[in-house]
Amino acid sequence: MELGLVTSNADKVRELAAALEPAGHTVAQRALEYPEVQATTLAEVVEFGLERLAQRHAGEALLIDDAGLFIDALGGFPGVYSRYAYDTIGPAGVLALLGDGAERSAEFRCVLGLLLPDGGRQQFRGSCRGRITRALRGDGGFGYDPVFVPAGDERTFAELPLAEKNAVSHRGRALAALVAYLGDSG
Ligand code: IMP
Repeated sequence: MELGLVTSNADKVRELAAALEPAGHTVAQRALEYPEVQATTLAEVVEFGLERLAQRHAGEALLIDDAGLFIDALGGFPGVYSRYAYDTIGPAGVLALLGDGAERSAEFRCVLGLLLPDGGRQQFRGSCRGRITRALRGDGGFGYDPVFVPAGDERTFAELPLAEKNAVSHRGRALAALVAYLGDSG
């Protein structure tokens, strides 16, 4: 299927394409605007975005991606506020909020929203448990990747090659569900 990736984030495009293209789909980044409502769940943000895109882009196959880092000791913060926290205090500020605390477990979550040419809408979710580092590590990836170590590894997402991040990440898992769905639906 030909999918328009509605995001301004080139790193997300790389991760999405790395899973979708080998599965036989063609992707193109689309510079479309959709409002990101302030909601309490990623699913609500995605549903609202899909609704708006459906109104203006009927007949197209479009994919949106909303993700967040949920830190247990901070009651799930930054979570749905991940972008705001990134733009204001940044990953180093999030580390400062956690301080020296021993409890550093966290979860990355991703919700992919698919708008189908017939107007159908679907969501695909993925999550990845892990822990928050005590310092930023690694040059790869983007966003909070330098402060997150996925469970079962010692490297941060920013220290993993893209294929290894996609194999275990929240986005990679949501993508696996999307690819399975597209395969089933022809
Ligand atoms: P959004 O999904 O673009 O709204 O992302 C919210 C915030 O989380 C942004 O600051 C992103 O940089 C960050 N983010 C989203 N996905 C990832 C990821 O896979 N790794 C690290 N940070 C991410």
